[in-house]
Amino acid sequence: MKIAICYLSQHHGNTRKLVQAMVQGYDADLIDITASSHADLTGYDVIGFASGIYAFEFHPQVVEFLKENLPQGKKVFFVYTCGGAKGTGTKGIAKAAAERQAELLGEFGCRGFVTFGPFKLIGGAGKGRPNEADLARGREFIQAILAKAR
Ligand SMILES: Cc1cc2nc3c(=O)[nH]c(=O)nc-3n(C[C@H](O)[C@H](O)[C@H](O)COP(=O)(O)O)c2cc1C
Repeated sequence: MKIAICYLSQHHGNTRKLVQAMVQGYDADLIDITASSHADLTGYDVIGFASGIYAFEFHPQVVEFLKENLPQGKKVFFVYTCGGAKGTGTKGIAKAAAERQAELLGEFGCRGFVTFGPFKLIGGAGKGRPNEADLARGREFIQAILAKAR
């Protein structure tokens, strides 16, 4: 079972840390979508999209990347880290995936370190997140996703 996770992680690398832990030991490629706006996703059995939450949503660049690159009818999942107010979270990207007739297998989110705006004044919030417990829950999530995809 070949997995890809297409991610954007620009604030503190929180989402990258999470997806790296998730795919350890699996046949998986992590695709940093800021490196290139194109990727051939045809050969993957399961495709994840991962982002920090920015202004209560997945980063719009990840949604654009999905629209540009996701083949029809793929199995997908979503992963995010956030400061604690995920807002509509995966709603926009779920809509874009549905337009590609994707099968949504699940989503996973946890807190991430944030120093944006007022949080900077107090030295940030969510220090150390995602932590070991978050990463362990992330790995349980991916196991469940792969079990569903088989
Ligand atoms: C410009 C900006 C906007 C953000 N907006 C939100 C938000 O609306 N809700 C929230 O819970 N966290 C928000 N955050 C915090 C990030 O979602 C959080 O730090 C996340 O873990 C960042 O992931 P990354 O390090 O992978 O980029 C924001 C951070 C930045 C820099």
